[in-house]
Amino acid sequence: MTERLAADAAGIAHAAELLRAGELVAFATETVYGLGADATNASAVAAIYEAKGRPRFNPLISHFPDADAAFRHAAADARAREAAQAFWPGPLTLVLPRRDESDIAALATAGLSSVAVRVPGHGIARALLAATGRPVAAPSANRSGRLSPTRPAHVIAGLEGRIAAILESGACEVGLESAIVDLTGATPVLLRPGGISRETLEAVLGPVSIASEMGAAVKAPGMLASHYAPVLPMRLGATAPEDGEAWLGFGIEPPTLPPVSRNLSPAGDLVEAAARLFDSLHELDAAAELAGLQRIAVARVPERGLGAAINDRLARAAAPRS
Ligand code: TXA
Ligand code: MG
Repeated sequence: MTERLAADAAGIAHAAELLRAGELVAFATETVYGLGADATNASAVAAIYEAKGRPRFNPLISHFPDADAAFRHAAADARAREAAQAFWPGPLTLVLPRRDESDIAALATAGLSSVAVRVPGHGIARALLAATGRPVAAPSANRSGRLSPTRPAHVIAGLEGRIAAILESGACEVGLESAIVDLTGATPVLLRPGGISRETLEAVLGPVSIASEMGAAVKAPGMLASHYAPVLPMRLGATAPEDGEAWLGFGIEPPTLPPVSRNLSPAGDLVEAAARLFDSLHELDAAAELAGLQRIAVARVPERGLGAAINDRLARAAAPRS
């Protein structure tokens, strides 16, 4: 059963408590309803993907009550501060370098060194975020492949019984997801058009290029910034490690293991495996290089449930690159 919470003080306090306990709570923003989870809790973030039935681990947007809170996790330069001043709270998401001290789970950023942050222009949402006191990861609150929800009924139709609660606060004003601007490079890049037009952004940020106009080459696997890949090559669907390989297991281990090995979930639990995926890859990659190993062998992960998203991400990480 999904709890229906009224957007009053008691409802907001209860929703914040659920989020802090690792549960999923849908809430309205000015753009669309978001499916929120504590972004610092890898299992809670994995539960988002499971509830949505999302076949891929895209990096998620972390939501904050104000710019100061956001910039404790994302490093803001002068441009970022100007954009925040001009457009926050509002339908703008900034992609910025992630701060070393940020405790946002690697699954929420898909293992990237950047992080997407946003301060929504919706009073109830900001009250919830302030009460939660942690970054809240939130994609749109719909099943994968369905339309983004702008009313509580849309959320309930897709996610009833799959999430702990919905904080009900009417229809969303904008109805279109936030504009996403990448400020990690020299020139701002519009990664996703959205609630603020390019012209309006350019009035504050100067020239903004558009990701889709940057040429087909950028779309090649491994080149997109959002495809984290280990330094070492990978061998997927392995039954046992060979000489010179580190091992990333799932479920029961083969009889002999190399000195550098991890297991995504000894119990064969796909939610646990998802929660550990990016941390395990980062750790293995670093340790394997140090140990002079040449490759990472990865056990077969079943395609059911979150296994599809895990396998999608492993395939991208293993794709040939220059
Ligand atoms: O309006 C919105 O932005 C809504 C509401 C709920 O806030 N949220 C939303 O989240 O649309 P989502 O998960 O559907 O959009 C996340 C997108 C990813 O698909 C990716 O394109 C981009 O944000 N993104 C997130 N982190 C990124 C990063 N570090 N680098 C590049 N792109 C990133
Ligand atoms: Mg969406």
